Amino acid sequence: MKRAVSLGSLLVLGSAWIIQGLHVSPETLTNLTQDDFDLGRFMGQWYEVAVVSTCPHYMRRKQGEPVIVALELQHVASEQNFTMTATAFRNGTCKQTSTVYNLTDLPGHFFHHIARFSADVYSYVSRTNYDEYAMMLLLSTEKPSGKKATTVKLYSRTVDVSPAVLDNFKTLVRQHDISDDTIIINQNKGECAPSLQETGDTQPQISMTKESKGNVVPPV
Ligand SMILES: *[C@@H]1O[C@H](CO)[C@@H](O)[C@H](O)[C@H]1NC(C)=O
Ligand SMILES: *[C@@H]1O[C@H](CO)[C@@H](O)[C@H](O)[C@H]1NC(C)=O
Ligand SMILES: *[C@@H]1O[C@H](CO)[C@@H](O)[C@H](O)[C@H]1NC(C)=O
Ligand SMILES: *[C@@H]1O[C@H](CO)[C@@H](O)[C@H](O)[C@H]1NC(C)=O
Repeated sequence: MKRAVSLGSLLVLGSAWIIQGLHVSPETLTNLTQDDFDLGRFMGQWYEVAVVSTCPHYMRRKQGEPVIVALELQHVASEQNFTMTATAFRNGTCKQTSTVYNLTDLPGHFFHHIARFSADVYSYVSRTNYDEYAMMLLLSTEKPSGKKATTVKLYSRTVDVSPAVLDNFKTLVRQHDISDDTIIINQNKGECAPSLQETGDTQPQISMTKESKGNVVPPV
């Protein structure tokens, strides 16, 4: 059974753009978020394996270097936020960034700010089975231009993803009026060992990621 999300609670979160961005109808409202979202089970290691966005800059940047980003999500009990540490091998070096996501009143709905683009980002976990995949919706508003963008991301617990999960992801993308032809499938360029970041090592070692079961989706 779908957990009912009242229009009221979405409006409480803030402005009308949230409603606009979601193309909210009564049917989709109950369909937005993973039922009985469990933040604890959502934490831990993920890989960002596929992305698509209505933001042309984001798409250009991702197409330029479509690499799998390793994510580590950590939530300190009692805190109203969690930290996402993203590590990727880009342009010859390991790059690591850390972002704090504030929790909101709705389970599975988060809020954060990206200083670099002065953008407010509202995101939610649309679908997850916790041990295999998570599908994320990110609705961002750049300030002061007010430019809005919708980004859909597929997280996987392993560096590859089954065709069935990818199909479901494509369906979700289409439901948000984005062509699934434009989805960027990230490639596995090996993993950066996070410990090397902390020691400031300038020669990052690449440890190959473990082979995981399931079907590998060929790069597009
Ligand atoms: C609700 O989600 C299901 C997939 O879980 C999808 O098949 C259905 O079309 C969605 N309904 C709406 C109104 O978005
Ligand atoms: C995370 O939330 C706690 C309260 O729940 C707050 O004290 C802390 O400052 C927050 N951290 C950040 C980085 O916003
Ligand atoms: C990649 O690194 C080279 C130097 O190593 C630099 O000149 C170039 O601007 C970098 N490109 C990007 C996109 O960061
Ligand atoms: C996140 O929550 C903290 C309070 O815990 C608040 O100070 C901060 O401004 C919030 N960040 C964003 C981006 O809303």
